[in-house]
Amino acid sequence: MRVGMLTGGGDCPGLNAVIRAVVRKAERHYGDELVGFRDGWRGVLEGEVEPLDVERCRGILPRGGTILGTSRTNPYKVDGGSDRVVAVLREQRIDALVAIGGDDTLGVAERLGAEGVSVVGVPKTIDNDLSATEVTFGFNTAVQIASDAIDRLHTTAESHDRVMVVEVMGRHAGWIATYAGIAGGAAEILIPEEEFDIDEVSERLRRRHQRGRFASLVVVAEGAKPKEGTMVVQSGDVDQFGHERLGGIGYLVADGIEKRTGFETRVTILGHVQRGGTPTAFDRVLATRFGIAAIDAVHAGAFGHMVALQAGEIVRVPLAEAVGESKTVDPGLYHGVAEQFFG
Ligand code: F6P
Repeated sequence: MRVGMLTGGGDCPGLNAVIRAVVRKAERHYGDELVGFRDGWRGVLEGEVEPLDVERCRGILPRGGTILGTSRTNPYKVDGGSDRVVAVLREQRIDALVAIGGDDTLGVAERLGAEGVSVVGVPKTIDNDLSATEVTFGFNTAVQIASDAIDRLHTTAESHDRVMVVEVMGRHAGWIATYAGIAGGAAEILIPEEEFDIDEVSERLRRRHQRGRFASLVVVAEGAKPKEGTMVVQSGDVDQFGHERLGGIGYLVADGIEKRTGFETRVTILGHVQRGGTPTAFDRVLATRFGIAAIDAVHAGAFGHMVALQAGEIVRVPLAEAVGESKTVDPGLYHGVAEQFFG
């Protein structure tokens, strides 16, 4: 077969491990020919391809980012985009496409699948917000980076007896914040799933400090939302998939805490550091398993499906199930575990 591959959406540690695994099994086991499309759906629309083989993939396993490049291009936002995709795939003699991405990239894959394109999906995102898979690769790495940062902030916070607000990514899900907050011993974790009241947060911090000299780490997810009428939050630009650019809520939270408590409060926005660099061993293994399963799915003719992790096993699920609804933080984890350490 001649198999095309693309990586779309925000990059994520582990993408190269998937590419390497697909190429390895496709070439060595199935005798396939592989090509990569540059920059996600943009490369498909513009017919920009590069050959992929085992040699090209040497040394990429521990490398962050994606050797294929990525973009947030949505073919359905371009005039005649989906027809162009189908035409390019035909011109390039592509028998099957492996699309590696989050809900946006896989949403496009699902629509193209319904139009007859032979496509298999691989779920990726540091946000861990994709349904139908217990975890996405990239999440473990992002959590580790955020926890390491929290540990470092702890020692400087203790020395100065300050409140440190750490803003982490995750879009409209608080997975990174919850996991990194639990791992880092946060005094407060603010996530999009649970609207926060800045008065209550400040009061808990005030009482905590009254008990002695306590540095406090407040982890804020970039998508955290204040209770209606309690704070003014500005909205950012939107991308081709209608997603707002998030970031900056940490400053508002810090300002709110400092004004209410009088405690010196500093902000660290981790931003893209969470997506950069080498994937953890966990993510390399998961990404490799997904890659092998994706090329197997291609050869089993399981088009319109995505590979996923369920109960420790790699399974295939319809793309429609994966992109329907985003997976948000389990209230049991937030209230039952994380919240026990607040204040
Ligand atoms: O979806 C991954 C993610 O890193 C989100 O956590 C974040 O909101 C967004 O991408 C940032 O996107 P960009 O790299 O386009 O700024």
